[in-house]
Amino acid sequence: DAVVSTRRDLAGTRILVSAGGTREPIDPVRFIGNRSSGRQGVAIAAAARARGAEVTLVAAHLEVPVPAGVRTIEVSRAAELESALVAEQPAADVVVMAAAVSDFRVAVASDRKISKQDTGEALALDLVQNPDILRGLVRTAPEGQRVVGFAAETVDDADELLRRGRAKRERKGADFLVLNSVGVDHGFVEDRNSVIVIDASGDIVATAAGDKLSVADRILDAVTGTASEPAT
Ligand code: CTP
Ligand code: CA
Repeated sequence: DAVVSTRRDLAGTRILVSAGGTREPIDPVRFIGNRSSGRQGVAIAAAARARGAEVTLVAAHLEVPVPAGVRTIEVSRAAELESALVAEQPAADVVVMAAAVSDFRVAVASDRKISKQDTGEALALDLVQNPDILRGLVRTAPEGQRVVGFAAETVDDADELLRRGRAKRERKGADFLVLNSVGVDHGFVEDRNSVIVIDASGDIVATAAGDKLSVADRILDAVTGTASEPAT
């Protein structure tokens, strides 16, 4: 995507973005993953960079290229994503947690490829919860840093989306939560997206629909407190 912006309104702002989907190993050749392409997080990184921000992207298995001028740290498992973010957090003014983190990991991944010879007819995997990285980042945020979470919910009703979003924001303590509804064939893969941004009071501070780059710009406006560009 071409990023066209003449604004440099985020010059001097340091933005840390996570994007993509984590993979939890089952054995050396298999993993538990998710359908996140990384597009929305990458669009935020690209839009922020185009507006002059200093951007670090923690990237987990992106299906899209990394934007030019963005420092990138590649990770795979949730634990690696967490370490990278914890290390980078102190140098950020805004942290945007757009990555889809695997909620569970295999308790003990096999160090050898699992064979049907060993398992027989059925295989049971013990899964344990991963830590809530976003909630941890909220707790360790330096004074003045804004922490932004995402929540993709499989609901079509806007009121239900808001209700769940407000409850989730409370649980995480994030300064902002970006809500969108996803289904089997929208949200994750398409270039278009439609979001509602709520703040720490649960109030709606932005709504945006369109291609992921323009949605990214509206999200950045809301979470950095910059004014929107006049409609053209
Ligand atoms: N998140 C995180 N660490 C996790 C799970 C989620 O940091 N272990 C972050 C995501 O990156 C996102 C936000 O939390 O910014 C919300 O993710 P979501 O999956 O909607 O929240 P969960 O708390 O996992 O709730 P659910 O059980 O509905 O999946
Ligand atoms: Ca989850």
